[in-house]
This record gives sequence, C-alpha cells and structure tokens, in this order.
Amino acid sequence: MSFEYSERIKSLPPYLFAQIDMKKREKLSQGVDIIDLGIGDPDIPTPEPIIKAMQKAVEKPEHHRYPSYEGMLSFREAVADFYRRRFGVSLDPTTEVITLIGSKEGIAHFPLAFVNPGDVVLCPDPAYPVYKIGTIFAGGIPYIIPLKEENGFLPDFKSIPKDVLKKAKIIWVNYPNNPTSATAKEDFYRELVNWAMEHNIIVASDLAYSEIYMGNEKPISILQIDEAKEVAIEFHSLSKTFNMTGWRIGMAVGNAELVAGLGKVKTNIDSGQFQAIQEAGITALKMPESEIQRIREIYKQRREVMVKALEDIGLEVYNSTATFYLWVKVPKGYTSAQFVSLLLDECGVVCTPGNGFGQYGEGYFRISLTLPTERLMEATERIRKLKI
Ligand code: MLT
Repeated sequence: MSFEYSERIKSLPPYLFAQIDMKKREKLSQGVDIIDLGIGDPDIPTPEPIIKAMQKAVEKPEHHRYPSYEGMLSFREAVADFYRRRFGVSLDPTTEVITLIGSKEGIAHFPLAFVNPGDVVLCPDPAYPVYKIGTIFAGGIPYIIPLKEENGFLPDFKSIPKDVLKKAKIIWVNYPNNPTSATAKEDFYRELVNWAMEHNIIVASDLAYSEIYMGNEKPISILQIDEAKEVAIEFHSLSKTFNMTGWRIGMAVGNAELVAGLGKVKTNIDSGQFQAIQEAGITALKMPESEIQRIREIYKQRREVMVKALEDIGLEVYNSTATFYLWVKVPKGYTSAQFVSLLLDECGVVCTPGNGFGQYGEGYFRISLTLPTERLMEATERIRKLKI
C-alpha cells in the first residue's frame, strides 16, 4: 500500500519549529549539551495559584463532560474583564469573545470561515508561519507584505496594488512582533483600521505578546481604536503572559460576526477546551499585575544582559523593549541558515533562522530569551569562541 499526501500538505514547507526540534534531538542523542534558544517557550513555571486552581477544577465531575463549543461563559467574562482592565476595551462576553485551544488553533482555523479558494490573504513576512499555513489550508493565496527594518518592521499596506486588494479578504498583523520584536503605535492601528474599512478587508491582529514589554509604553490592542470593532478580530493567548504554552488556552475577541464565523468552524472541528483548563485560565486572567510584572522583570534583565554580551561579540541586535525575542543580524558572509547551523554544530546553541519566518527574514536570526541568564551567558561565551 502507498498513500499520497494531499496537494495541500505537499505544498507546505516543513513546520519551522518541528524541523528545528528534529535537528536538536539529533544533537542531544549524540550527547551534546544543547542550549535551546529556538522556540518561544517560557522556562519560568506557570504561577502556583493557576496550578492550584487546575488541581481543584480537575476533580469536578461537571468538567469531565463535553465543554461548550464557544467556551465557558465565566472564562469569556474573565477575558472581557482583562480587556477592560488592561486596554480599556469593552467586550460583550456572549458574542465578542470565544475560547480557543491556544491562539495557534484559532489563527489556523480563522481563514476557513471567510476565505474562498482563490481569495487573497495579506500576510506579513517575516512572521509566525501559521498566518500563511492557515491561508493555504483554506485554499487562499498568501500575498506577502515585507516587514523591513527601515520601516520599523511595519507593513506598508498602502502600497498593495489595487488588483490584489480587490481579492483580499484578511490582513494579518502582530505587534509586539514575532520574530522581529518591533512594536506598533496607535497611529499605525488607526490608519490600518481606516484603510481596512475603505477596502472591506478583515484585520486579524495577533496580540500574544502584549504583556511582554520592558519599556514604559504598554503595547496597545487594535480594539482601542474607535471603529476597530467594525473590521477587527484579535487573537490572544495565556501562553506567553502566564507561562502556559503547554496548557493550550487562548481567545479571540472583537467583531461579533467574525467571532461567530470562527465559532462555526470550531463547532464542526473541535469540542471546546477542557473546562478545568478554562477555570485555571480564569485564575490566570485575574492574577495581580504584580505577578505579571515579576515575570517581565526577569525578561528585562535577561534582555539587557544578553544584548550587551552579543554586542560585545560584534553582533547587531534590533533595538526593542518588547517580546522575549532578540532579532539579530547574521554576520557578513553567512546566510541565516548557514549561521544558525554553525551555531548548532560548533556551539550547541539552537537559534531560529530568520528565513524560517519568510524570505524577508533572511539576514537575521532569532534568539528566544526563555532560559535562565546563566545559560544565556554560557551561549554567548560559546558564540564568542567562534571569533566571527
Ligand atoms: C515561536 O517560537 O515563534 C512561538 O513560540 C511559536 C508558537 O507560539 O507557536
């Protein structure tokens, strides 16, 4: 017997982080002491009250049955409350919030609700690979919008040709940005919302890193812009804020029709997130600001130490105070892939090649600050020995 993959699957590049993981495992099996600065997976444990809430919730028989498709109302209310406190945005938890099995799930499924085969989805590059992958799964055509350093890694959406705009259904944006660590201000979002309304394009914003900031300015939600709810849906996650990547819990909020469309897809595909996880999520969303600040301070300290060490070696790091990523230029004479391979082979350090996030990521590599400072320092010491 032989089975052939669908064209859909055949057309996909290998999933970036799965590929990196494979190379890492190979080295580990050879006994190499690997320092993994690849995926953005926080090393800091989930705060204790969240774990305790989960332990209690898991014993409740009502949570052992199917959850509701759209998520528990109490979880959606906690999301609405978080948005009100943090962004001053008011959301109706019954129509403008949906629970996700991690934001990746929602991001991947969303185009299925609004994209017909042949429709265009405007995808930034470099970017989280799932924006493009979700588009391809829906039969859509990704149209690449380059994010360039000279534009602060913001998309120049006004330069998109008219014939592309006619077929475009969705534009993806993500600030604080993965992988570049760039941020966006209110003016950017205001222009984007006006432009999207003019061209009847859905704005899908990924705000997963909103709480990982070290400067004085708090990242904003697109929903803070008047009229954004006319055109925008925002994807958020508890993963990065509360060190809960393994728990798979996130949310989509915003325009009720867009939220409902995603809900229709999910109702037919999954049966909702385990309610005990949603209960623990409620505890997370109600955590005092001081707890989030404690986590932020850790990343701030790591960022400062690491940027200094890398600059000492002669590497150029994009200047930012958001996300737990460093976006670093590869030294002259190397491609992103070559340099990242060198780091793995010669230093046992795993980083993510910029071109893994798209063609415009070429010339950069990404470091994730999700290991303790001592390990980060050990990584820079090993890189220093390369004498680049
Ligand atoms: C990343 O490393 O880019 C992210 O952690 C991947 C993810 O959130 O799925």
